[in-house]
Amino acid sequence: MPYAHITGWGMSVPEPVLTNDDLSKMVDTNDEWIRARTGIRERHIARDNEFPSTLGVNAAIKALQVANLRPTDLDLIICTSSSPEYFFPATACLIQDQLGASKAGAFDLLAACTGFIFAMNMAAQSIRSGSIKNALVVGTETLSRFMNWKDRSTCILFGDGAGAFVLQASDQPGGILSAVMHSDGSGADSLSLPAGGARLPATEATVHDGKHFVHMDGKEVYRFATRVMGHAAHEALDIANLTTDDIQWIIPHQANYRIIESAARYLKMPLDKFVINVERYGNTSTASIPIATVEAIEKGQLKAGDKVVFVGFGAGLTWGALTAEWSGPLPAGRAVHPEQYRRLARVRSLYRRIVRIIEGIIFGRES
Ligand code: UT7
Repeated sequence: MPYAHITGWGMSVPEPVLTNDDLSKMVDTNDEWIRARTGIRERHIARDNEFPSTLGVNAAIKALQVANLRPTDLDLIICTSSSPEYFFPATACLIQDQLGASKAGAFDLLAACTGFIFAMNMAAQSIRSGSIKNALVVGTETLSRFMNWKDRSTCILFGDGAGAFVLQASDQPGGILSAVMHSDGSGADSLSLPAGGARLPATEATVHDGKHFVHMDGKEVYRFATRVMGHAAHEALDIANLTTDDIQWIIPHQANYRIIESAARYLKMPLDKFVINVERYGNTSTASIPIATVEAIEKGQLKAGDKVVFVGFGAGLTWGALTAEWSGPLPAGRAVHPEQYRRLARVRSLYRRIVRIIEGIIFGRES
């Protein structure tokens, strides 16, 4: 049975930064409160022309570069997002098209902030089964579009960004070692985007009542998160026959510094084994784990051979954990320069436009 290794990684955040002081001019809040309750100092907010697919593609290109793969080498793309570009088509398909990953099946997976763990597990299982060789997992968010910027209990928390991993089959032992996935739909109301779906389709009233924004019972989600994080990490470690002593790094979902502290206490592990960057990005939902991972690699913290636990929680309710032995890029590969991706994307879009014009002329003549 092949092993599923994480061989590429990349992140992309929009440039504009919204600080706590900026927020204090928009709602009744202040830097001290936000830092004390959440650990967040600032977050990045997408510009009008930035979308989950554009951020996701930027992160994916970097991940493919690290893995030395071409987009056409990909068999599968799973995109996970709490703020997808459309209801349908899947954001994964937009990413597939912009990358030119013509051989990849692409679909979205919705498990809110736990999405990246669920998606990594699905990609790893597909590789382990022998049915595919190369997968791309993208977590990408522009949750700022779904924030009520008058609701101080939510708008201070979230940020935009994307992260991507490439997973590849290899005979070398290592890579993804174990995973657990959990859900409890009885807590669905505690964190949701109530309107726009089949239960509450968009109407003037839903817009007027702010039902297209994120709604959250913060205290309830906090209690749930502190209950499940450490436990899920333990479960995944047990399955892999590991203990916390075998682990170099825990990379948790970055929602709140205090939630991460409480997981550290539960696991009886020092906080310096946790990768934490919530202060600079806020909660980027499905993107928070890969963004934290990329930063840990760039800082020289996470190295080949390290054992790591990824652990997350989110709306649904969902939670889960995944253990991996960090491997780094596999030896062989055929990278493409980022400029080549962009040139290819421009050619493809021009080609499609020409085809549409020709179709218009032909159908116009026929009718
Ligand atoms: O990916 C999962 C996403 N969700 C989460 O991770 C959320 C988990 N929950 C939390 O992180 C915390 O519950 C929050 C940070 C959201 C809130 O912290 P808290 O300690 O649970 O505060 P609270 O909701 O109990 O509010 C305490 C007080 C209230 O005032 P009163 O009623 O005591 O007068 C709030 O109105 O703080 C007030 N408050 C604020 N004050 C200043 C709420 N938001 C703010 C704010 N600035 N932004």
